[in-house]
Amino acid sequence: MTAEDKKRAAAEAAIDYVKPDSIIGVGTGSTVNHFIDLLAEKMTDHVSAAVSSSEASSNRLRSHGIKVVDLNEVGKLDLYVDGADESNQQLHLIKGGGGALTREKIVAAASELFVCIADDSKLVDTLGAFPLPVEVIPMARELITAELREIGGEPHLRQGFVTDNGNQILDVHGLQIHDAIELESCINQIVGVVCVGLFAQRPADVLILGGDDGVSRHSAK
Ligand code: 5RP
Repeated sequence: MTAEDKKRAAAEAAIDYVKPDSIIGVGTGSTVNHFIDLLAEKMTDHVSAAVSSSEASSNRLRSHGIKVVDLNEVGKLDLYVDGADESNQQLHLIKGGGGALTREKIVAAASELFVCIADDSKLVDTLGAFPLPVEVIPMARELITAELREIGGEPHLRQGFVTDNGNQILDVHGLQIHDAIELESCINQIVGVVCVGLFAQRPADVLILGGDDGVSRHSAK
């Protein structure tokens, strides 16, 4: 099975969580793209609208005729479906490989149930092999770079990339994250940081992994 097949299998399993006529939260990335396509294929008459975490996902949803609404219009959501770059056994995630971490974190916070979909390569013992994305206000970039070095990381500016919010991303290499909740708080407190791509204070509730033997569902251990 290719990685794309595994992602699509995980996305297909997440369709089971979609209630008819509901407004759902939709994340960003190649796995979520499968989810959006499957949503359109299987649920056309049943999804009334979606709250999207990026311009890219909004465009894909609209291209399938799915209405995209502002989170402010709907308040709370029952369900959020999104991918991840890494997950540990506690379902603490690294996200933001696609640069949409801030809006993803907002939609996750507004949602009752967060279903994370991924191929099985994303499950790790210790978070951090995937560089941790941090969205920053551009004028604070160097200040934040110095602070992130203090905590043991090596930040690299994501070249030629501007987030949907008009900010920059520092990808922090070289971290081994043993206390994700604590590190999330610590990085959030650096002045000029908009969002850190650690989803530990609000982890996923369910992780669906596509693998060679089909899909597996995980809850936090
Ligand atoms: C985007 C994300 C994605 O969910 C993450 O990068 C995983 O992407 P993919 O499904 O393409 O592997 O956080 O900001």
